[in-house]
Amino acid sequence: MTLWGGRFSGEPSAAMRQLNDSFRFDQRLYHADIKGSAAYAAALQRAGVIEPDEKDQLVDGLQQVQAEFDDGTFQERPGDEDIHTAVERRLEELVGPVGGKLHTGRSRNDQVATDLRLYLLDEIATLGTQLKQLQAAIVEKAEEEIDVIMPGYTHMQHAQPILFSHWILSHFWKIERDLERLSAVAAGASVLPLGSGALAGNPFGIDREWLASELGFSGVSENSVDAVNDRDYVVEFLAWAALVQVHLSQIAEDLILWSSPEFGFVELDDAYSTGSSLMPQKKNPDALELMRGKSGRMTGHLVGLLMALKGLPSTYNKDLQEDKEALFDAIDTLKGELPVASGVISTLKLHKERIFAALDDGMLATDIADYLVRKGVPFRRSHHLVGEAVKLAEERNCSLSELPLSEYQQIDPIFSEDVYEVFDFGRSVAARSGRGGTAPSAVRRQIEAAKKSLQKRFIP
Ligand code: ARG
Repeated sequence: MTLWGGRFSGEPSAAMRQLNDSFRFDQRLYHADIKGSAAYAAALQRAGVIEPDEKDQLVDGLQQVQAEFDDGTFQERPGDEDIHTAVERRLEELVGPVGGKLHTGRSRNDQVATDLRLYLLDEIATLGTQLKQLQAAIVEKAEEEIDVIMPGYTHMQHAQPILFSHWILSHFWKIERDLERLSAVAAGASVLPLGSGALAGNPFGIDREWLASELGFSGVSENSVDAVNDRDYVVEFLAWAALVQVHLSQIAEDLILWSSPEFGFVELDDAYSTGSSLMPQKKNPDALELMRGKSGRMTGHLVGLLMALKGLPSTYNKDLQEDKEALFDAIDTLKGELPVASGVISTLKLHKERIFAALDDGMLATDIADYLVRKGVPFRRSHHLVGEAVKLAEERNCSLSELPLSEYQQIDPIFSEDVYEVFDFGRSVAARSGRGGTAPSAVRRQIEAAKKSLQKRFIP
């Protein structure tokens, strides 16, 4: 039997049930559903719709249902279309006809919107904590490897030397912005839809402000037609999740490349790698490849929901049930991989000799141009003169530091013996000491700033 069966003479077909039922994936909302229902029972009593002892029976019954879910003994029955019908069906079995009073003035339309917001707010708190842990792993690594100078790339070409710590901290700040955005997503989700009924509002004098504070919402929806239809907070969360995933894919891509034998800069711990079933020598960076590959599916969830919402008629339509699997998968995916990302970073091994060996004089060409600038040459001209030196060195098949002074002076007599002092990678990075630069002094300040924001707890 279904809960809405009165006007029907036939039961839904098995195929229809399979298509329509959401219990298999929305049962994870049980905690939020029961919390919302207990608060609603109290609101009904406060409004004089039910007696105090009826409220107590409902709340006790709901607690029993909760216990059954908690310990895995809840028995699903045919007709348990979704979590809301399943909880209510079981409640009636436990408390008798009074169970039928719980849904007074309420619809699954305002109920599901309330449940989903409560659930999401809970998960947001967990994700915020996990992101903070990833940030902590990054800062720790940055401190540990502060002496490592590596090639910095633009267009994947040798550009200028930077500190490895500077590279890894670049990801700290992306995550910092992700956390700020996550707080904004939480604020958007923290609005109570309960009391909107199916679409038109609640006729029993329910105190919605009281309900909101009881359930921890910071606001109350202003329009019932909007409230049962609104999934903006899910879209915002999925957009947020897609961007986090894109950020993770960027860390992953650098590390995958750097762990290839051609680079050999880093090595993943065995705990985050796998082998090949055919090639005994292989050690594959699967953890990172999954972090990169999951960007597709995360972006898909966002686009999928946007398409489901496009042109949707007002109020509740069953299309809205499509919000859940996308949301749940996005949450599960991130919750599964964020600890892995932290682990990869914490256990990452640097092959410093390979990293140092990859530094070449050409990466100091800008420093030579800066050297000429300090002698009064306008930058555009110094850029050109160093370009000539690069060309000459290429013709001579030597490096810039091997090019004799006479050759430099042939390009321009302003070059003098001290040009060779430029060929020092430590000096190159140390020069970039302005705020946000790669000098060890600046990176240490950056680490202090990062630690300061790490200390702030994430509050959704
Ligand atoms: N399972 C439904 C969903 O996830 C709950 C709301 C059903 N409302 C309705 N009028 N059929 O959207």
